[in-house]
Amino acid sequence: MHAYAFMDPINTLWMEQVRAEVGAEKLGAFCVQCHSPIGVLTGETPVGFDKETVDPLVKEGITCDACHLMKEPSPTAQGEAQFHYDVRSGKKYGSIMDPAPNSFHESEGTVYFSISNACLPCHDLVNHQGLPAEITYSEWLYSPYAGMGVECQDCHMETYSGQAAVGGPQREFLHRHDFAGVDIALTDNFPNMDVQRQKVEQLLRNAVTLEVEIPDAVQAGSLLPIKATVINDKTGHDIPSSVTFVRQMWLEVTVSSGADTLYKSGYFDANGDLMDEHSALNPNGDPDLVLFQSALFKNGQPANVFTADSIRIGSIAPFQSKTALYSIPLPANPGSTIETRVRLRFRPFPPYSIRDGASELIDRIPVFEMAESEKSVIVL
Ligand code: HEC
Ligand code: HEC
Ligand code: HEC
Ligand code: HEC
Repeated sequence: MHAYAFMDPINTLWMEQVRAEVGAEKLGAFCVQCHSPIGVLTGETPVGFDKETVDPLVKEGITCDACHLMKEPSPTAQGEAQFHYDVRSGKKYGSIMDPAPNSFHESEGTVYFSISNACLPCHDLVNHQGLPAEITYSEWLYSPYAGMGVECQDCHMETYSGQAAVGGPQREFLHRHDFAGVDIALTDNFPNMDVQRQKVEQLLRNAVTLEVEIPDAVQAGSLLPIKATVINDKTGHDIPSSVTFVRQMWLEVTVSSGADTLYKSGYFDANGDLMDEHSALNPNGDPDLVLFQSALFKNGQPANVFTADSIRIGSIAPFQSKTALYSIPLPANPGSTIETRVRLRFRPFPPYSIRDGASELIDRIPVFEMAESEKSVIVL
C-alpha cells in the first residue's frame, strides 16, 4: 500500500471531497504530507495540484527515499508529518549498521529503522483541531507491546536471510517490505495483487480471537442466547486501526432450521451496505448490528478527518475485548435442531463511502473472513 499511497483512487476521491468542502488553500499539503512526502519536498504538489500531471517519481507514493532519507524520525506527527530528511549528502539511511561500501550511494545505519519511531511520522495523525484521528503509533505506544519491545517491524516486516542488494554480503536478518495491512489495491494491474490479497487474508486470520457461547439445547418458542466476544489478543494496536472511521469489522450472525433462516444480522442490503444509518435502502434495518467502526464529528455533526473535532471510537484496543449478546426468539416449532453460524468479517471501506465518485470500484472491495464459529443446537 505504500507504493499505492499517492495514486490510490480512494485517496484521490476523498482528497477532492475535502478540498471541495474546505478549499484547496486551507487544506494545503495536509494529505500529501504523508501520502507523498516526495511531492511536498520537491514542490510537485502545490495547492490544488492535479494528480495526473505530477512527476512519475511522486506517483510512487511512499517510495524508498520517503523512508530511507530519514536521518531521524520526527518526534511526533501532529497532523502534518514533519520529516527530518537528509536530501543533500546523497546518503541512504537504514538499519544495517555495517553497510558495505558500493559505487551507487553512501549508506549509514541508524537505530531508528529497527524501532516503531520509523513509522511514527505518518502513522499518528493528530489533525489541526488537535483530534487524535488516526493514531496507530499511539495505540501501540500505550499498549503492552511497546513495553515488551515488540515493534511495528516485528509484525509488518517479516525477516529472511539473503542479500540486501545484488552483490552485497550474505546477511541473516533482512526485512520484507510488503507491509501487509487490511487494504489492497483496487486498480488494474497493480503489481503482485494476488500476493497482496493473500498476505492480508493471512494477517486478518491471525489478528483476534472470537469466542462464541451458545447453549447445547433450547426450548422451542424460547429465546436463544448467543454471546460473541472479540478479543484483540494478537494485534499490536487497535483493531481496526488508523482510518477506523471507514474500516468495517463486524459480526455476522445466522440462525437457520433446514432451509429456513430464522434470524440474521450483519448482512448487506442490495447495494452492499450494512444496514446501519448509512444504508440508503434500509436505514437502521439491522438493529442488532455489531459493527466496530468509528465516526468523526464536528460540533456533533458528521465530519471529515480534516475538520473533525471529536471521534466516537469503535475499535478494540490491544488485549481488550468487546462482547455482543444476542437474544433470538425461536418459533414454537422450528424443527429438531437449528444451525447457528457467527462470523467476524472485515472490509477496508463500505460501498457508500465511494458510491459518489468511484462507484466502478465498489464490486472490487474485498471482504475478509477473520474468524467463524458454527454450532448445532438441539430444540427441546
Ligand atoms: C499524518 C499522516 C497522514 C495524513 C495527514 C493523511 N493521511 Fe491518509 N493515511 C495515512 C496512513 C498512515 C494511512 C494508512 C492507515 C491504514 O491503512 O490503516 C492512511 C490511509 C488513508 C486512506 C485509506 C486508503 C485505502 O485505500 O483504504 C485514504 C483514502 C486516505 N488515507 C486519504 C487521506 C486524505 C484524503 C487525507 C487528507 C484529507 C489524508 N489521508 C491525510 C496517513 C495520513
Ligand atoms: C515505509 C518505509 C520504508 C520504505 C518505503 C522502504 N523501506 Fe527499506 N526499510 C525500512 C525499514 C523500517 C527497514 C529496517 C527494518 C528493521 O531493521 O527492522 C528497512 C530496511 C531496508 C534495507 C536493509 C536490509 C533489510 O532488509 O533490513 C534495505 C536495503 C532497504 N530497506 C531498501 C529499500 C528499498 C530499495 C526500498 C524501495 C523499493 C525501500 N527500502 C522502501 C523502511 C522502508
Ligand atoms: C503484534 C503485532 C503487530 C504490531 C506490533 C503492529 N501491528 Fe499493525 N497490524 C497487525 C495486525 C494483525 C493487523 C491487521 C488487523 C488490524 O487492522 O488491526 C495490523 C494492521 C495494521 C494497519 C492497518 C490497520 C487498519 O485497520 O486499517 C496499519 C496501518 C498498521 N498495522 C501499522 C502498524 C504500525 C505503524 C505499527 C507500530 C506502531 C504496528 N502496525 C504494529 C499486527 C501488528
Ligand atoms: C512517509 C510516510 C509513511 C511512513 C514513514 C510509513 N508509512 Fe505506512 N503508510 C503510509 C500511508 C500514506 C499508507 C496508506 C497508503 C494508502 O492506502 O493510500 C500506509 C500504509 C501502511 C500499511 C498498510 C495499511 C493497510 O490498511 O493495508 C501498513 C501495514 C503500514 N503502512 C505500515 C508501516 C510501518 C510498519 C512503517 C514503519 C516501518 C510505516 N508504515 C511507515 C505512510 C507511511
